[in-house]
Amino acid sequence: MDMKKENAVVVSQEMLADGIFSMWIQTDAAQTAKPGQFISMYTKDGSKLLPRPISICEINKADGQLRVVYRVTGENTGTKQFSELKEGDEIPVIGPLGNGFPLEKAEGKKAFLMGGGIGVPPILELSKQLSCECKQIVVGYRDAHTFLKEEFEQNGSLYISTEDGSVGTKGNVMDAIRANALEAEIIYACGPTPMLRAIKQYAEENNIVCYISMEERMACGIGACLACVCQSKEKDHHSNVHNKRICKDGPVFLSTEVEI
Ligand code: FAD
Ligand code: FES
Repeated sequence: MDMKKENAVVVSQEMLADGIFSMWIQTDAAQTAKPGQFISMYTKDGSKLLPRPISICEINKADGQLRVVYRVTGENTGTKQFSELKEGDEIPVIGPLGNGFPLEKAEGKKAFLMGGGIGVPPILELSKQLSCECKQIVVGYRDAHTFLKEEFEQNGSLYISTEDGSVGTKGNVMDAIRANALEAEIIYACGPTPMLRAIKQYAEENNIVCYISMEERMACGIGACLACVCQSKEKDHHSNVHNKRICKDGPVFLSTEVEI
């Protein structure tokens, strides 16, 4: 499908925690967006030609708005520029991009919805839309600067881990599962690669269906440049190689499909 760039309009912007911002934008992408998809956001600065991929955190279809929650990565960065946008400012975006989480697989099952770091935001819309037997949200943060906690509490049973132990279980999301003796039949997860690797291994050892969303670095974001490929078990039908493009074939994959 051909995606065209659109000038979205900033509806609101606020800081949720140290360096973590939440922005609602008015965009046509809200009409078709699904949990687990992302949008590519452009800066106005000509030195940064490539857009920045940011997950969709919440969808308000009725008002045509999307929410993104993002971490500012440094002083002279694209995310720093996004954080300076004010209500009414325009921001060029493309989206929704990627495949999203398969919601129907959780029907009647006990599920883990797991997020770590900047992989936490997409878990919110997932937790709102997923219908399952038992919704256990397990999210991991660095420290007491947690975000989206109240929203998660309204959408499932919430378990938190922090690296420094200041809130919830000390350690990572896997430590929170063990500390609370939680069990699941299906897992949805998004976060940094080491976290996804641990979840993939746990799921495969325990025969649990597991979908992971990968937030690797990207360039074009639309499947054209191959900057984002990861190794796959099966050969790709088109290129006949063991590769998958995270931006186009993902970012969500069945854990058994990809090598990480
Ligand atoms: P750059 O100037 O490009 O880099 C600054 C620093 O950030 C460098 O140290 C660089 O190594 C690091 N960095 C750049 N890209 C990444 C990355 N992908 N992962 C980790 N570190 C990175 N971020 C959010 O805060 N919220 C989200 O919801 C979110 N969703 C994403 C969804 C997808 C599918 C992908 C691929 C990435 C997502 N990211 C998200 C990461 C986000 O795209 C990067 O943080 C952003 O592109 C950095 O751009 P920048 O101009 O601020 O930093
Ligand atoms: Fe270009 Fe994925 S970022 S193909």
